[in-house]
Amino acid sequence: MKRILENEAMNGAETALGYDKIVEQHYRWLIEPHVNRILKLTAFEQNKKLSILDIGCGTGRLSLEIAKKAQADVYSVDCSLDMLRVLDANMAHTHTKGGVRLISADAKKLPFRDRCFDVVVCVNMFHHMPDPLGALRQIKRVVKDDGIVILSDLTRPVSPILVDLYVSVFGVLYDDVMKKQYRNSLSASFSAGEWRRLAARLGRRGLTMFNSFPHYINMHKKMQRHS
Ligand SMILES: C[S@@+](CC[C@H](N)C(=O)[O-])C[C@H]1O[C@@H](n2cnc3c(N)ncnc32)[C@H](O)[C@@H]1O
Repeated sequence: MKRILENEAMNGAETALGYDKIVEQHYRWLIEPHVNRILKLTAFEQNKKLSILDIGCGTGRLSLEIAKKAQADVYSVDCSLDMLRVLDANMAHTHTKGGVRLISADAKKLPFRDRCFDVVVCVNMFHHMPDPLGALRQIKRVVKDDGIVILSDLTRPVSPILVDLYVSVFGVLYDDVMKKQYRNSLSASFSAGEWRRLAARLGRRGLTMFNSFPHYINMHKKMQRHS
């Protein structure tokens, strides 16, 4: 099936608050596995203060949890001010070890120097982008030569019937609003084949890809050298 695009920025106070509620309620599925993976992949760097970039951070549940658990300076980027405002409010009642800096910017034009982050994370953002290549280029530009890139997102099912099936099975605990968002996001995401071609642009050496659900793809790459 063809992609049906969603809006790129998740603008609007109601949208941002609604999204945050969903993420809070389903934190265990939506955020925790990514936090654990980041901690595992960076565990060997325990004595170093890491610089971590969270692109398309939304309301920041992942950024804040990382800043709580790791010695890290976290930079949280989103192009929606409404999402960043909710992140700011969430931060007020979170005790973090390192700092969390909020940056309003477009993933296609990141306001950072080349090769300045140890870890670049991007969870569930790419399905919002009509064209992902600009953001991928920026990710490669800002990650250090020995840094890590972690990307996770939905994959678009081959047919609308599978969209219905996934919404009814994996979205069984969701309310109607979230079911609708989930359906739209599945339809907007890249197919498994498209993801494989995108991932190849990061370079194959050091790249690990795996599905955590039939329709959810995760990849991480330990950078060796910019290609
Ligand atoms: C589905 S949310 C995911 C938020 C967060 N990563 C999470 O997992 O909870 C997608 C986020 O990406 C942001 N986004 C979409 N396109 C973007 C872009 N070009 N630059 C920066 N942020 C973008 C949206 O505004 C939204 O906050």
